[in-house]
Amino acid sequence: MTKLRAGFVGLRRGGGLVRSLASHPQVEITALCDLDTDSLGKMGQDFNLPDERLYTNYDDFLSAPIDFVVIATPIEHHATQTIAALESGRHVLCEQTAAYSIADCERIVNTVRKTGKVYMMAENYCYFHYIREWQSIIQQGRLGKIFHAEGEYIHEIRKLLIDPETGQHRWRYTRAPIWYCAHCLGPLLTLMDDRIIKATGVHSGKNIFPNEGLGFLDMEVGLFQTEKGSTIKILRSQVAPRHPEMVWYSLYGTKGFVENGRHRTHGYGSTEGYLYLEDEMTEQEGAKKIDCPTSDPNAPEEARKGGHGTSEFFMVRDFIDSINQNSKPPIDVVRAMDFTIPGLVAHEAAMQGGTWLDVPNFA
Ligand SMILES: NC(=O)c1ccc[n+]([C@@H]2O[C@H](COP(=O)([O-])OP(=O)(O)OC[C@H]3O[C@@H](n4cnc5c(N)ncnc54)[C@H](O)[C@@H]3O)[C@@H](O)[C@H]2O)c1
Repeated sequence: MTKLRAGFVGLRRGGGLVRSLASHPQVEITALCDLDTDSLGKMGQDFNLPDERLYTNYDDFLSAPIDFVVIATPIEHHATQTIAALESGRHVLCEQTAAYSIADCERIVNTVRKTGKVYMMAENYCYFHYIREWQSIIQQGRLGKIFHAEGEYIHEIRKLLIDPETGQHRWRYTRAPIWYCAHCLGPLLTLMDDRIIKATGVHSGKNIFPNEGLGFLDMEVGLFQTEKGSTIKILRSQVAPRHPEMVWYSLYGTKGFVENGRHRTHGYGSTEGYLYLEDEMTEQEGAKKIDCPTSDPNAPEEARKGGHGTSEFFMVRDFIDSINQNSKPPIDVVRAMDFTIPGLVAHEAAMQGGTWLDVPNFA
């Protein structure tokens, strides 16, 4: 069996993706790149890579023998690194979100079309086990038409905005909370089989840290109108004092509703939620409690290696299948922009005082 040769850039978060891909029988890890030589050396040893396959310079890394690149660097590098990898003839699996500007998103779309290479955005939350279970309920029509959905991703990461020891600003310092909306929008739009056409936003200012950067907006709220006429509301904060962090989804259909819980019950991100189906339950008994696990209980043991339940195991397999079959990956470049751009537009709208703005379509 010919193996696909993988190169990774950005080894902190990238470490989880490295582990997921390393367990794939058809993948061989051949090159690593990071500015931090300690992470580079350590991971190089884990995979028995010679020094000449460890790079601190991305352009040099692209001269390595690799078939695809996994990009897990800070978001401001995604567009440049994605485009360079595609233009050098490599397929790309890029962390979310795709980029920080609509112009960069458009450049990525054009480069994918020009090169014909596979591009997938690594939106792992779409692969949570409970999201896939809900997808099957929705596809069977048991919830009816979804007309409204909500998502909340409240994750206090102040230490990732400012280094607590040195006081140095880190890359997330200037990341507006709603820019990072793919963990909410990705699963919701997947379940609704829909896309956003208009967005607005509002934020509550900086009550917690009045003198800091955009990343310290206490709470940003995005409101969205979809192509099928449904509505979506998203809450995002990276500084609000709430522990543990939570990601929460709720979908209202013409025949019922489904939601996960806001508090973990067991395992990573697993909660107890509710499901109400008008045709299958009585009003008196009301919604029934449902387990919302991030891990697929039937997945093989190695599926838990990547992190975030078993989501990454299944996500990287879809990416490799797309390369092998030369097919469109589930989160292809157009879908990546459907999950990325509404957050950029909602923030712009919030800064303009809450006006409604159109969301461009790259389909
Ligand atoms: N999907 C998820 O669940 C999830 C979780 C965390 C982070 N992320 C995403 O992963 C990416 C990285 O996040 P992180 O938390 O690991 O950030 P981080 O700042 O902790 O780590 C980034 C790594 O990239 C390296 N790096 C930075 N610039 C580089 C460059 N130009 N060339 C080579 N290496 C470079 C740094 O040295 C560091 O090791 C981001 O896109 C983030 O949005 C996704």
